This record gives sequence, C-alpha cells and structure tokens, in this order.
Amino acid sequence: MPDRHRETKSKYTLDRNMPGAFEGETVTRRRFMNLAANGAGAVAALAFTLPALGFAIAPIFKRQQWTWQPVGPPSDFTDTDYVTKIVNVVPGIGEAGNTVAYVRKRNPAIDKEPGDQYNQFVALSDKCMHLGCPVRYVQAAQRFICPCHGGVYDFRGMVAGGPPVRPLDRFYTRVNEQTGLVEVGPRYSVNNELQRFSPRFPGEPIDGIGQYLYPAQFDTAAPPPH
Ligand code: FES
Repeated sequence: MPDRHRETKSKYTLDRNMPGAFEGETVTRRRFMNLAANGAGAVAALAFTLPALGFAIAPIFKRQQWTWQPVGPPSDFTDTDYVTKIVNVVPGIGEAGNTVAYVRKRNPAIDKEPGDQYNQFVALSDKCMHLGCPVRYVQAAQRFICPCHGGVYDFRGMVAGGPPVRPLDRFYTRVNEQTGLVEVGPRYSVNNELQRFSPRFPGEPIDGIGQYLYPAQFDTAAPPPH
C-alpha cells in the first residue's frame, strides 16, 4: 500500500540537500541574489517610466482656464448674418492654436433654445462635425458648407445634409460690462435640441445614448458658473 500521507518538505535548504546550503537558510543565496537584482531592476524601471507617463497623461486631465477674447463691439454684429472672427483655442502655440468663429447676434425669431447671459450672441465653430474639416459660410445661401464630404449646415448650424452627426459646436459669448465688447469664451457641443454639452470630438453624436457613449473630454473648460 502506498503511503497516503505525503512527507512535508522542510523549509530549510540544508534539509533539502541544496548545493551551497547553510544551516538555518530558507532561501539559497543564488535565489536571494536573483530576487534582489530583479527587484532593483523593477524599481529602476519604474523610476524612469512613472514620471514620463505622468508627464504624458497629465494634460489629459488638466482643465482649461476660462478665457474670454474680445471680438468687437455689439454694433459689429447683426442677427441676419455672420461675421468671421479668429479666436485662440489653444494658448501658447501661436497661430496654430487659432480657429475661426462665425459670430452673429441672437435672433429670437429663429433661436428658440433658452436664452441666457452666454448666448445673446451666437458664435459657431468652423469645425465640421463629421471629421473636423473647416466649414465655410456661404452668405448667399446662408449655409455652412464642408468641402471634404459635402456636409451642409443651415443658418443656425444645424445639420441640413451630408454625413455630419450633430450641429456645429458653439462658443460661450458675453458682453463685457467694463469694456462693452462682445467676448468669445470656451467651446461647447450641442445636440439636435441645441442643449449644451462639454465639447466632444467630431463624429461623436450626443443625442440620446450618444452622450454616454462619448464622454466629455477632460482637457476642456468646465461648464460656466451660473
Ligand atoms: S469632414 Fe465635413 S463632411 Fe466630412
């Protein structure tokens, strides 16, 4: 009959007849040195990679500051046409950080979304909501046309044809009480009811479940204080 009780192995290297064993040792010196060398290597690797990793991903979580850029006195704008303005959306990189904003006065006859202190002037982004090409305002047609794949937006920036998945993004606007100038603030996205959302990338629909499938970008400005 085979012995069913297994003999328990001793934890001491000497009892297990391991080469180079010393009395009282539970780990051979070779194994100990291996573990120590591997541990030191891992610590050194982390010391190099963690700061670089933190440096690389930190900007993703850094909120942009609220900045307001003057674009002219209210008399520069009408509620029947757009004026093209250049605004900076990425500070510190010169002209590469500039973009176009199409600005007009709010027109209560067509702008039916609730009015507040941030939309008495409508400022539309020129970034197409299909893949991000710059759209062009065609005054004669009062439409925004995208040259890349034929996207068309109506006068309010709503999708009128082609592949774009949502209306043109907008910028918060205000009239500065001290200077009296119209100012353009951070960009935000809108759904087909023109409800505001934190900026999303082109190609990301935010109606219905889309707002959860495509969460807000972390590096954009927080919603405005009310
Ligand atoms: S990028 Fe505008 S329609 Fe494709």
